[in-house]
Amino acid sequence: MKSGYTKLLGIISDGKIHSGETLATRLNVSRAAIWKSVKYLQVLGLEIEAIRGKGYLLHNNFEFLSKEDIQDMISPRAKESCRDIEVAFKIKSTNLSLLNRLNHEVIHGSVILAEYQTEGRGRRNKKWLSPIGSGICLSVGWRFEVMPISLGLLSLYMGIATARTLNSIGLKNVGLKWPNDIFVMDRKIGGVLLDIRGESMGPLDIVIGVGINYELPKHKPPIVDQLIIDICSVTKERLSRNIIAATLLSNIFQILQDLEIGENLNLIDEWRQFDCYNERKAKLILPNAEIVGILKGIDERGSLLMSVNGKLSTYGSGEVSLKIQ
Ligand code: BTN
Repeated sequence: MKSGYTKLLGIISDGKIHSGETLATRLNVSRAAIWKSVKYLQVLGLEIEAIRGKGYLLHNNFEFLSKEDIQDMISPRAKESCRDIEVAFKIKSTNLSLLNRLNHEVIHGSVILAEYQTEGRGRRNKKWLSPIGSGICLSVGWRFEVMPISLGLLSLYMGIATARTLNSIGLKNVGLKWPNDIFVMDRKIGGVLLDIRGESMGPLDIVIGVGINYELPKHKPPIVDQLIIDICSVTKERLSRNIIAATLLSNIFQILQDLEIGENLNLIDEWRQFDCYNERKAKLILPNAEIVGILKGIDERGSLLMSVNGKLSTYGSGEVSLKIQ
């Protein structure tokens, strides 16, 4: 069931001015109720202008994520694996939602996307801030009866799925920063968060969460501790969020399927091609130490290679943070 503010957003998302009176009539509510919904949407981060004597205008005109459109546009292979798609308007976190479902059902092939996450989660217990409609936030549930590769590699591969997506929709210079941050022009455009439940001997339930910045609000950008960028500021045209979401899901399912059917999948070289910080000076922040060195790519197991005082060392992903200097 759509709530009042969702229906209101459905109307004003065309980017035209709508009077309070017309909106009230269309939604069969009072003008005061319209005003209340507008206030609420503004609090969520939408730029809705109240133009005296005319009505309301949504500045960040907005393409809603649509379950039907995404279902239609995912690749035939993804259709084979995708069991269900849910689009939530407002949710704590898409990863959390799938993890909760795991308590009472199998989530293999389930997808959830959200317009707005109140508690979006990033790696290393950080928040993932994505104001309403400004990003593509989705999670995919998958069960491996037996894990075909290391979890470290899977996390790298999901970064590749995201980088391939941005490449294929026309973004230039898409890069990966180990393990799976997606960068364009030295700024972060997206990230991947894997949540894993189960035994290392299998079965393992995995929730793959991906967040991509689509169009961050210029009037109120999220305050984060690094440089960020969004798709709309690097593409000339406004690409469809539904097409991007469908392309991303197709790429994620393709890799998951290949792994499941035992395809001898080695994407290490592809990761290396996306590696945008090779040979750069960086600081690696470990739980109880900080190491400065020169990045030397990754090894065959997906571990980071870093030259520290002329000696090559390897680091697994875990809870480490990599700062480029
Ligand atoms: C990172 O820190 O770079 C990873 C960010 C992952 C964010 C996505 S948004 C969809 C999914 N749900 C969450 O709560 N987090 C992930």
